[in-house]
Amino acid sequence: MMVPVAAATLSAVAMGVQAQTVLKIGYPTSPQSHYGVGSSTFCEEIKSGTEGRYVCEEFPNSALGGEREMIESVQLGTLDLVNTSTGPLGNFVPSVKIVDIPFLFRDYDHARKVMDGDIGEKLLDDMQERGLVGLAWTENGFRHMTNSVRPIVKADDAKGLKMRTMENKVHMDGYKTFGILPTPMAFPELFTALQQGTVDGQENPIPVILASKFSQVQDHLSLTNHVYSPAILILSPQVWNELSDADKKVFKAAAQKAATAQRKKVNDDEANGIAILRKDGMQVVEQVDGESFRQAITPAYADYAKEFGADNIRAIQAVQ
Ligand code: PAF
Repeated sequence: MMVPVAAATLSAVAMGVQAQTVLKIGYPTSPQSHYGVGSSTFCEEIKSGTEGRYVCEEFPNSALGGEREMIESVQLGTLDLVNTSTGPLGNFVPSVKIVDIPFLFRDYDHARKVMDGDIGEKLLDDMQERGLVGLAWTENGFRHMTNSVRPIVKADDAKGLKMRTMENKVHMDGYKTFGILPTPMAFPELFTALQQGTVDGQENPIPVILASKFSQVQDHLSLTNHVYSPAILILSPQVWNELSDADKKVFKAAAQKAATAQRKKVNDDEANGIAILRKDGMQVVEQVDGESFRQAITPAYADYAKEFGADNIRAIQAVQ
């Protein structure tokens, strides 16, 4: 909930001091992680762009709940902003689910072009009808599998592994075709579940694996790149509707800068993280047989085409 600070007292107004509004922003990982870098950039930008009339209070490390809970809070107006993956977002804005299809995006360049182009823009627009203001697509990254049982080189190796997934049916339907036993769970419960062996593994991008210190509880990492995980900065409409047109521009531009900074941190973690995780004791399979996963998932694509429309999937794949 936005909090106008006491500067708006009569005496302050008389002195020409402007009221300051503190916006609460929540995100799932640490302040040093990609989400932290993106969120802090956004906060610095709105502070300088509005000459201190808007500032943030940051709540990292899922302090305000899992991503689903934070999105719900933004929709209700009890939280002002969230920097979240799309994992649970499809439960609020169904059209967004399409971007969670495994093996939909070829690489970072392709994914970023789609999210920043007409398709991503249309999805941001769809959010308005659902009581959410999508400011810009940030980024979580391509997801990879970790587990404590065996190295995964081909799809068959994943068979029978109990893996924590996001609460996302599009992911789960795809992963079932690899023979995985998907176990949906909110992220804040995951470290303990891995530590206690409630699940054998999980899948997340390198920046998350690093920031969450999964090397302490997982032996194997396979660079499966099996799905791109977009992220997004979402603002509550209560705040948006109070902003002047000029401040709306500042917020949008700040979100773009946040996206650039967050994506750069994803790039840096991808470039440097594997060596760090190896040093921390993980066995890393870099040469994964991606074709075996793509073949396994073919039947799920028939269902995705029914749900999202074959043309819409092809339109994403066709972006160069
Ligand atoms: O696995 C998840 O739930 C997400 O990837 C995470 C770590 C919350 C970041 O968006």
